[in-house]
Amino acid sequence: MPDAARFAGRAAIVTGAARGIGAATARRLAAEGARVLCVDSDPAVVETATACGGEALALDVAAPGAGQRLADAARAAFGRVDILVNNAGIGGSKPLAESDDALIDRFIDTNLKAVLRITRDLLPLLARPGGRIVNVASVFGEVGHPGTTAYAVAKAGVAQFTRQLAGELAPEGILVNAVAPGVIETRMTEGHRQNPYYLRAVLAPTPLRRAGAPEEVASVIAFLASDDASYVAGAVIAVDGGWLAARHPPREA
Ligand SMILES: NC(=O)c1ccc[n+]([C@@H]2O[C@H](COP(=O)([O-])OP(=O)(O)OC[C@H]3O[C@@H](n4cnc5c(N)ncnc54)[C@H](O)[C@@H]3O)[C@@H](O)[C@H]2O)c1
Repeated sequence: MPDAARFAGRAAIVTGAARGIGAATARRLAAEGARVLCVDSDPAVVETATACGGEALALDVAAPGAGQRLADAARAAFGRVDILVNNAGIGGSKPLAESDDALIDRFIDTNLKAVLRITRDLLPLLARPGGRIVNVASVFGEVGHPGTTAYAVAKAGVAQFTRQLAGELAPEGILVNAVAPGVIETRMTEGHRQNPYYLRAVLAPTPLRRAGAPEEVASVIAFLASDDASYVAGAVIAVDGGWLAARHPPREA
């Protein structure tokens, strides 16, 4: 349950905050006392910022210079950053044979390179000790899942980036972790959730037999951003209803 004082006095940045997991995370951090800078390429991010009493920045995280623009905005708004949630991402990738250069570039640029660049550019502002970085990876970056190649490769990169950076920053008192969501009910999965292959391959073998809500990912992100996770570094926590652990279809199927 939210604790209104858990993030009191802390400054947070959430990318991809216009909707879905990012909006739920911004709301959760704000409900627990954080001041939140909500970032998204969709101008609707203003609505999330208004709902959480925070600030909005319309920004394409993959654009050249995006990290510096974000650092400038964070410096002006807060002076320092306690929590960075790298959540912005795109879905809908294809098998490799159907992936042209533009598609590969779009997925790697947005879902992987932007995470590295933005994090690097915010490093000087991160609180030491006490800073927290939470990346949003995916179960599809943890095991092979044919058909989403560029997406899965980018998300595997985010998971490895998390482990890599955890080792670099923990000695400075900054903890870096990630969540790997399974099927979550957001716009990204709207189409998939009606798709027979997706239902058979992902939803049916999810032991909890349902998709997750964005708030069920946001609560784990909030845990990783909190003092309760003071001895957690470099972890990639599945938030997937058990899919990665078990991946078993109903017995009658
Ligand atoms: N929904 C799922 O089942 C699921 C599963 C695993 C991982 N994820 C990851 O969770 C994160 C959030 O996804 P979601 O499900 O909430 O999807 P969503 O489509 O509802 O939200 C994604 C948000 O990111 C923003 N965004 C996309 N590209 C951007 C860019 N270049 N610059 C700035 N903002 C950008 C979008 O405008 C949108 O507001 C993504 O990284 C996604 O890969 C989602």
